[in-house]
Amino acid sequence: MKLFAHRGVMAHHPENTMTAFRAALEAQSDGIEADVHMTKDGKLVLIHDETINRTTDGRGRVADMTLSELRGYNAGVTFAIQEQIPTLDELIDLCRGTSMVLNLEVKTDIERYPGIEQLLIDTIRNQRLPVGQVMFSSFNHSTLQRLNQLAPEIECAVLLAQPLYDLVAYCKKVGATAVHPNVLTMTDEEILHLQDEGLSVRPYTVKTVHDLERFSQLGVDAVFVNDIDWAKAHSTP
Ligand code: G3P
Ligand code: CA
Repeated sequence: MKLFAHRGVMAHHPENTMTAFRAALEAQSDGIEADVHMTKDGKLVLIHDETINRTTDGRGRVADMTLSELRGYNAGVTFAIQEQIPTLDELIDLCRGTSMVLNLEVKTDIERYPGIEQLLIDTIRNQRLPVGQVMFSSFNHSTLQRLNQLAPEIECAVLLAQPLYDLVAYCKKVGATAVHPNVLTMTDEEILHLQDEGLSVRPYTVKTVHDLERFSQLGVDAVFVNDIDWAKAHSTP
């Protein structure tokens, strides 16, 4: 079972920052999950919320600010260090030449960010990121469908906060080959059924040894964790 560093190693570093992503590399994580938004001047940046209020010393919507304005705020305040909101390009540069898989969660749930899908695909192609080194996920499944139409070679994963009826058919319709369910929402039988149907399952966010063992036994492809060292220490080899 692979381990993905959720927002980087967010247990010990400010989430979605280069420090948190570097920590994931140092801990030899299999993957990094990062949340993608788009600035007013059309740049892709990594931050969880639609606003910078919770994770920086500033206030306001990402969509209302240019990259240069956003860079003026400190994204390391939660750990009392100095950090800038990173761009997607910086994360790709960090992982270039490594086996680190990037799970880019496209945050179009509240903001729509028109054109973000094409911009993402262009960025990945311009950066020559190998196809197997990136996957998309989103709670906005229309976004996934557009991404899949633009770049069918890149894996798309349906993010689910709650269970969904007839998920296998739904994934086919969206063009997704993976499901990222909330840890609390799926039974063992449902997970095994999805896997039998050829879908990869990667639950988020695993915080207990019990869940680590449960998902490992179910044979899921990967889990998202906030602390890679903790997960490695409690995983069966
Ligand atoms: O991608 C899994 C997980 O990150 C989704 O929830 O709120 O942490 O972005 P959230
Ligand atoms: Ca996320």
